[in-house]
Order: sequence, then C-alpha cells, then structure tokens
Amino acid sequence: MPCVVVVGVQWGDEGKGKVVDLLAEEADVIVRFQGGSNAGHTLVVGGEKFVFHLIPSGILRPNKRCVIGNGVVVDPEVLLEEIRSLKERGYLQDDSQLLVSEAAQVVMPYHKAIDKGREGRSSKPLGTTGRGIGPAYEDKVSRVGIRVGDLLHEEVLRGKLERALEEKNPYLVHVLGQRGLDLDPLLEEMLRYGESLRPYIVNTSRFLAEEIARGRRVLFEGAQGALLDVDHGTYPYVTSSNTVAGNACCGAGIGPTQIDFVLGVVKAYTTRVGGGPFPTELRNGTGDYLRERGGEYGATTGRPRRCGWFDAVAVRHAIRVNGTGGLALTKLDTLTGLDRLRICTAYRLHGELIEEFPSGAELLERCEPVYEEVEGWKEDLTGRRSLLELPAAARNYVERLQELLGVPFYLISVGAEREETFFLKDPFSEGR
Ligand code: GDP
Ligand code: IMO
Ligand code: MG
Repeated sequence: MPCVVVVGVQWGDEGKGKVVDLLAEEADVIVRFQGGSNAGHTLVVGGEKFVFHLIPSGILRPNKRCVIGNGVVVDPEVLLEEIRSLKERGYLQDDSQLLVSEAAQVVMPYHKAIDKGREGRSSKPLGTTGRGIGPAYEDKVSRVGIRVGDLLHEEVLRGKLERALEEKNPYLVHVLGQRGLDLDPLLEEMLRYGESLRPYIVNTSRFLAEEIARGRRVLFEGAQGALLDVDHGTYPYVTSSNTVAGNACCGAGIGPTQIDFVLGVVKAYTTRVGGGPFPTELRNGTGDYLRERGGEYGATTGRPRRCGWFDAVAVRHAIRVNGTGGLALTKLDTLTGLDRLRICTAYRLHGELIEEFPSGAELLERCEPVYEEVEGWKEDLTGRRSLLELPAAARNYVERLQELLGVPFYLISVGAEREETFFLKDPFSEGR
C-alpha cells in the first residue's frame, strides 16, 4: 500500500524519528505535514546521532525524496542550518532530494519574540518550545501570514511585511515590553533566506499527486502527538496544529482516499514536556529512573521530560482519533530494572470510574489513575530481536498492552539504533 501515516499517540517524543527512518527504507517519499521546529526527531545510525526539527527523517537515505508540506510552519533560519549541517556531514548532496512547499507558512522573528514574550509574562505558562509556533499558526488562520513562496518576491514580501509590522510592533512594544522590528533589515534577511531556499521551493501537492499516481510509496511523518493536538489534546496545554493523521491530507495537499494505513508510535511508558495535566506522572525516584535510563531530555529545548506510567486510557483515545491500524512500541528497554510496573487502565473522576479520556485539561486535572500492576524484568533487552527472545515478564507486558489497546503491534523497538528493533508486521503491506 503506497501511503502510510506515522503519528505519535502520546504527548510527543514517542520515537517517531527512529520509526520513520526505519520505514523510510521501504518508502520513496517522506513528508512532514504539520508543526514546525518545535519538533525534535532523533535518529541514531551507526553510533552517530542526528536531530531533525523540520527535515523529514528519511533524509539520511540516499535517493529518497523528502517533502516539507504546506501544513508546516517553516523557520527558514532553522531549516537552512539543518541543510548546512546535513551537507557538512555528507548527506543531501543532491538538492532535488528536498522539496519545500511554496504554500508553507514562514515563522518570522516576531513570532518567536511574541511566543517567548507571552510565556515570560504569563502566570500560567504553557511551557511552549519558544519556537514561534502558536503565533505563526495564528497569522496563517488570520490570513496575514507570510508564505515560503512570498520570500521569492520582493515587492509582495515588502507589502506583507509592512502590514504585519503595523500590528506586531505596537503589540511587541506596548503589550509585551519588547523591542519592535525595522522593516528594511527584516526584508533583507527574509529575501536572503528566500534566495538560499529557492532550489527547494515547489508545489509539493502536485509533486505528491504525481508520485502517488506512479505507485510510489509515501510515508507521512507526524510531529508532536495526539494528546498535543489542538482539538483532540489536553487543550489549552497543546500545540497549535492538528497532529492527528487526518491532517496529513490537509497539510500535504492530498485527499483522504489516498491514505492506506495509519501507524501510531507509542512509548512503553509516558512522557510529557511542558505544562498541563498528566495523570500517571511519577514525581519520585521511579520517574527519575525512567528519565535517566530513557535519556528523557527534550531534543529541542533540553528540558527534562516529565515521566510516568503507561496510560492506556489516553492512548486508546489517541488510537481512535487517528484511525490507528497498528502501533510501533518504543523504548521497552528503558523499563528494565523495575521490580513492578504499573499500567493505568481507567481514571477515577468525582468518585466514578471512567474509561474515556475527558475533553480538555480541566477535567483531566481531576482524574486519578486506576492501575493494575504487573511483574518487571531485570534483563537487558537491547540485543533481543523477537518476541520469543524477550524475558517472559516483558512479553507479558507487551501482550497486556496490546489487549488493553485493541490494536496490534507492528514493530517493537528496544534501543535507539536502527538495528535495535524487530518487526511483527509490515505496515506497507496493509490496506485500510
Ligand atoms: P520523536 O520526537 O517522537 O521523534 O522522539 P525523540 O527523538 O524526541 O525522543 C525519542 C528518544 O528516544 C530519542 O533520543 C531516540 O534516539 C530514543 N529512542 C527511540 N527509540 C528508542 C528505544 O527503543 N530505546 C531507547 N533506549 N531509546 C530510543
Ligand atoms: P516531537 O515532534 C514533545 C509541547 C511543548 C508545549 C506544547 C506547546 O519531537 O514529538 P509549542 O512550542 O508547540 O507551542 O508548545 O507542546 N511540544 C512538544 N512536546 N514533543 C514535541 O515534538 C513537541 N512539540 C511541542 O513542550 O508543552
Ligand atoms: Mg521529539
């Protein structure tokens, strides 16, 4: 089946980058469709580490085309740095490997200043990544955004920037107490970025339609996770885009009938970075153990990630809103060494047992997790390459998760390296 969407089904950082890099071997085109440089996708290949914020995780594989779709908010400074660093490390030698949508929105310096300024002044900050994501999507929806294609047209860009600064400067200066921006240097900087990005800028929707018509395999790489989705997540503690699989269509310019399969990526426990409710959070030594063993520090901001037990209620919700047909289970190896493991199977809210994830942050804040306990294991899992090679307790944990989630595991990851993985099923061989 040619089109597979890979999405996170928790609060992000599930290991989407690793899974996409693996599946990219079987794909021809890899597409980002939402989010921006708030994402941090880590790949470890032959002991070398790569972190991508905007470029799809297929870029290390030669002869694969990587697309930044119209639904992404592109910070040109970050993108050009990623391109530079890849070239320096011997990748992306052929510019035709990367395509950037002319219709993608540009993250401007004032978006980043507004994002940071608001967070700094708020009594209840969201804990954003400070990458300007919310303000950039606001401008897109307000129809005052700058699009990547505009960076190639000086007069169009000048007009749009003039109008933008008329609103942004008073807001920056009088509301946020920051410095305003001057038109001319900003225009010059943006035109310079446009010139550098020119070889990559195309109509990516048309490109994808042609590739799909030729029967090429397309892999869509989600950023963030369903619980950070602006509609389906723990609003307002969410990001500013739809992170669910349905948005692969809008964010790449293809139709819903083109999507054949949705693979959810799920960590064997839960993490969250930034503010917001997290019912299974462990604010104790076990949480610290998971953070240290799992290297749970933000790939974008370096912040320590909050860690907790697996939450089957939250993941079942994420599976539903994504139409998830299969799951990739990651970081099972991190759980090694814990005597007992807990799995949240329901919540208690106002004295009642509920199995549905509530809508919005306010109710979730009041939810108490209801746990079942299972045996842990002591063995290192990183060398294991099949379910049968796992210690019995790890196998039982995987089987119990699958029972609670009702969706099969397609692959299991037991380490950060490409090879530290085993497949149970092939997502590209599946239909709807
Ligand atoms: P993403 O944002 O979903 O791509 O995830 P991140 O890259 O932000 O975080 C996942 C982290 O876990 C990265 O450092 C990966 O290298 C690492 N990782 C991925 N899968 C595994 C695994 O199965 N075991 C271990 N120990 N690390 C993993
Ligand atoms: P990947 O793709 C984890 C979180 C931020 C904050 C909230 C809003 O690596 O999984 P934003 O900057 O988007 O306005 O911040 O969303 N967040 C992420 N958390 N992984 C991510 O991306 C995230 N992108 C944003 O920490 O809580
Ligand atoms: Mg990440």
